[in-house]
Amino acid sequence: MSEMIIEAEGLIKIFPGARQGLMGRGPDFTAVNNVSFGLRRGELLGLLGESGCGKSTLARMLMHLISPTSGRILLEGKEVQGLSEAAFRENRRRIQMVYQNPFDCLDPAMRVQSLLEEPLKIWHPNLDSGSRKDKVLGILEECGLPGNCLSKYPGEFSGGQLQRISIARALIVDPEILIADEIISALDVSIQNQILNLILKMKERHALSILFITHDLSVARKVSDRVMVMQAGQIKGIGTPQEVFSDEADPYIRQLSSAIFTFSGKG
Ligand SMILES: Nc1ncnc2c1ncn2[C@@H]1O[C@H](COP(=O)(O)OP(=O)(O)OP(=O)(O)O)[C@@H](O)[C@H]1O
Ligand SMILES: [Mg+2]
Repeated sequence: MSEMIIEAEGLIKIFPGARQGLMGRGPDFTAVNNVSFGLRRGELLGLLGESGCGKSTLARMLMHLISPTSGRILLEGKEVQGLSEAAFRENRRRIQMVYQNPFDCLDPAMRVQSLLEEPLKIWHPNLDSGSRKDKVLGILEECGLPGNCLSKYPGEFSGGQLQRISIARALIVDPEILIADEIISALDVSIQNQILNLILKMKERHALSILFITHDLSVARKVSDRVMVMQAGQIKGIGTPQEVFSDEADPYIRQLSSAIFTFSGKG
């Protein structure tokens, strides 16, 4: 069995320049520029980088939501492009994503019960309704949500509770890989730790491999088995937090960490 559950090889994503009326198109923009890395089975890999460096674009390619301009994505050593439709579909189930703003991801007109049953109907269509209910109740409990929330609508919850619902919705289909894209950035600091703890608990319980995207260096240091730093579409370093933030690190990483530590030192 390969050590890497998912790998990127030379991934490039170029967005064509926007139309500018009669002037034709603006210049193309390379959002992800020759990125290669592997997510190890069972690890939490922090993806750290400033706004606009290409983190979400990379995540969307790994999720098969957008296709790379060039490069390959391998799942357990097998190339995803060119798979049969059934195999491709199964791969889609195995990678789930949670986003920054749960308000944007949860249909406000659906009750929590339907929000949780919907992904099961899509990804595990053969489950009978009894087994579906059991899975819904199981994941609710694991995510720290009370049973009486099933009849409520998203608008009746706080941001932290909504993020728990989003996590439940991602994990209910039994993925092996979770991509968490800035999932605590929109939450109060007091709630951020609760959600981080939930992610770490679920990582162990469900043997998840996690790509944890954040622009917060202290969060990345705290939760990551390994950290990968991205700048302007490229990987600047990857390794354990000690390795990545060592004195021998790339100048950009040293600048990033010294800026944060100077800032937090004053606070
Ligand atoms: N569909 C698109 N068309 C054109 N440019 C895009 C598109 N999607 C993203 N970009 C550009 O690609 C760059 C990388 O965007 P991306 O969303 O991946 O950054 P990010 O690292 O996730 O930033 P943030 O921390 O703010 O979420 C940005 O400059 C963005 O404007
Ligand atoms: Mg982003």
